[in-house]
Amino acid sequence: MTRTLTIPRPDDWHLHLRDGAMLQGVLPETARHFARAIVMPNLVPPVVTAADAAAYRSRILAALPAGMTFEPLMTLYLTEGTEPADVVAAARSGLVKAVKLYPAGATTNSHGGVRDLDRVRGVLEAMAEAGLPLCVHGEVTTAEVDIFDREAVFIDTVLDPLRARVPGLRVVMEHITTRQGVDYARSVPQGLAATITTHHLIINRNHILVGGIKPHYYCLPVAKREEHRLALREAATSGDARFFLGTDSAPHIDALKEHACGCAGCFTATNTMPLLAHVFEEMGALDRLEGFASRNGPAFYGLPVNDATLTLVKRDSATQWPAKIETGAGPVTVFDPGFPVFWDVAG
Ligand code: DOR
Ligand code: ZN
Repeated sequence: MTRTLTIPRPDDWHLHLRDGAMLQGVLPETARHFARAIVMPNLVPPVVTAADAAAYRSRILAALPAGMTFEPLMTLYLTEGTEPADVVAAARSGLVKAVKLYPAGATTNSHGGVRDLDRVRGVLEAMAEAGLPLCVHGEVTTAEVDIFDREAVFIDTVLDPLRARVPGLRVVMEHITTRQGVDYARSVPQGLAATITTHHLIINRNHILVGGIKPHYYCLPVAKREEHRLALREAATSGDARFFLGTDSAPHIDALKEHACGCAGCFTATNTMPLLAHVFEEMGALDRLEGFASRNGPAFYGLPVNDATLTLVKRDSATQWPAKIETGAGPVTVFDPGFPVFWDVAG
């Protein structure tokens, strides 16, 4: 039986770091295991311009504890006022690695997002030309569409037509949660990838709702039926380079999760790598973890694989994590998989 596994240091291709005291509290949780992360721009106010991204990057680096290394890969929040020239300059300088499309109203701090895709056509065409990926929160927001169908409807009615209108646009389908998401990613031979979160490999919608409502399992896109979780597990462990890790680790203080109108987000930065080792081992695919967590993402983004390594070790006793991370903004509950995990990060 494999007891240790050494892989190139992983990266997180979709992460929420927030700002201020929350940033200070959660950044070490990611930097401890990950070399780089695509940092989401949905701050209040959002990271819209290259200048915003440069300032946010400086705040992230300033929050990094002495002795830790971490490279934030910055993104811009696409709005109907985004200037194509600003985006292209930010990409050319290397500051910005992707632009994020939030359909207006889809999730946390998305009200400034895009209502009419025709209004951002110029930006998308400039991005296609510059090779800058569009990271897509793939859910429609129309009230008539059931929340469990929002991803599948988005693929058919928004994503596929968008790709046809802007040929050459590189797209990341973020945090896919459905068999339809997996199938669509597989149907596109190049220029499209999909990230998968740790928690969507572990929970289905029953975990949120059976036996009482579990606010710490509520995230967006919401976890779907078991058949979809199984499709995600198959895709993540298949070795197909179009699928890679984006944790969507999204901290909210407990007071806002355990609330009459609780925020969406699972906080998985602390235990993602041991949880993934557990899942990949269950799937008989431990040898494919390094593709999913360390190689496929850099390949899509045209970045080198990290030289440093991370070693996972399997122990006889279950790994213990803090139930909560205490931040200056308040406590943040760490994702609980609901089963014992014997993998840990060595060192
Ligand atoms: O669960 C989520 N939380 N999904 C998102 O898309 C946003 C994120 C957040 O920012 O809290
Ligand atoms: Zn997210």
